[in-house]
Amino acid sequence: MDPPSEAAWEDFSAEAHRILDDTIAQMQHVREQAVWQPMPAAIQAAIAEAPAPIAERSLGAVYAELASRVLPYTSANRHPRAWGWVRGQGTPVAMLADMIASAANAHVGAGFTAPVHIEETVLRWLAEALGMQGAGAAEHAQPSGILTSGATMANLLGLAVARAAKAGYDVRQEGLSGRPRMLVYASTETHGWAAKAMELLGLGRRSLRSVAVDAAGRVQIEPLLRQIAADRAQGEQPFALIANAGTVNFGAVDDLRALRALCDEQDLWMHVDGAFGALLKLAPRYASLMDGLERADSVAFDLHKWMSLPFETGCLLVRDRAAHHAAFAAEAAYMEWSTRGVLSGGLSFANRGIESSRGFKALRVWMQLSVHGLRKHGALIAQNMEQAEHLEQRVLQHPELAMLAPRAMNIVCFRYVPAGHARTAAQLDACNREVVLRVQESGRFLISGTTLASGDYAIRVSITNHRSRLEDFDALVEWIVEEGRGQSARLL
Ligand SMILES: Cc1ncc(COP(=O)(O)O)c(C=O)c1O
Repeated sequence: MDPPSEAAWEDFSAEAHRILDDTIAQMQHVREQAVWQPMPAAIQAAIAEAPAPIAERSLGAVYAELASRVLPYTSANRHPRAWGWVRGQGTPVAMLADMIASAANAHVGAGFTAPVHIEETVLRWLAEALGMQGAGAAEHAQPSGILTSGATMANLLGLAVARAAKAGYDVRQEGLSGRPRMLVYASTETHGWAAKAMELLGLGRRSLRSVAVDAAGRVQIEPLLRQIAADRAQGEQPFALIANAGTVNFGAVDDLRALRALCDEQDLWMHVDGAFGALLKLAPRYASLMDGLERADSVAFDLHKWMSLPFETGCLLVRDRAAHHAAFAAEAAYMEWSTRGVLSGGLSFANRGIESSRGFKALRVWMQLSVHGLRKHGALIAQNMEQAEHLEQRVLQHPELAMLAPRAMNIVCFRYVPAGHARTAAQLDACNREVVLRVQESGRFLISGTTLASGDYAIRVSITNHRSRLEDFDALVEWIVEEGRGQSARLL
């Protein structure tokens, strides 16, 4: 599949440079593009119905097809006005890193190779940045970790480590049958990954105890303790607690220090889901919001959210190296360890998760941190916090907007409330749902919505965007109010 001659390599190189220039230009001018635009039906059909290619085609022809049919419809995350769900934008440096990693095509599951060491290094940097390890700590005292496809996978692996460490018997060998029920505790605001993880780990959804939250969205300690005591009285086996460092709905942060004390007292594994919140540790002005996270037994977080790296960059850090290893280590005759040769590095990452083959995603983390530094990332995170504060103020000051959830971090949940006579809850929900869809369809901003525990539908603006400027949020407020007025006249 390589170009067959010197001349063909040169042609390839020229074409590749054109594609690279084009890609960089698109990134540079992303602000001028629509945030999102639906694919026309004809293009959708052309992609869906394309037969499997049998014959060869030139790279130029394939790229031309890609440029006209695919690339215009890929956006919705990288635009400066994209604040839907919790997403990152990607960066020029990470794009280059991915290209280099793909060319190197390193296997980062096992082996004595530089990419394995690069991943070890970025994990150490991240553990230090989160305060889980002092700089220069001896290797055995350093947390263990692994880069994953995302926070869902990192959280799942973290819970798997907890299960193996706390079962009290060889759960990997024996499975769960015939034992007391092993229970996990988490607030009602916990992301949906937890229920899936309970299923996959054989624990079952019913073994996830959902505990009520206070007005700020933090798990309530007293009901939590009562639930643990009641479960113990029934002969069940509480073993882990999931603490939230930024809930998905509105960014609530559990009292991590109190939960650490509770886990010590109750002999529970403390796992923190810090999918986006954990990286607040990089922003000195806001880092105290994450106090206690550094003392967790395991922390899962994403670098494809608040570090803007391309998708499929999550991370798990585990305080106890031996526990991490014990949860996944396996041997195979065809992967024999030796003091010499390629496998002299051992199975490293293949023994810290469930995947055997893994790529060099660590390079994008390493290059981005090396080029931009931790301080700049912290400053950009702080900038998003200030933007969220600004948006909250705009909402509070506007007579036709109302905050619907307390803002702890970078997520602002609010709704349009038409002036004049009272509306039913259902009417307000319908109006705001329509506003969110119309804003998305406008192609000018990307926002999402959520239904809060109160049952109210909220417009949700989640700010993890290094490209946004303050005036983008002023423009959003004006647009939403305009849409809200139009919809309330039509729907209400
Ligand atoms: C709090 C929280 N946990 C977990 C996840 C899942 O992360 P991922 O989509 O990277 O798997 C998210 C995603 O938004 C999240 O906000």
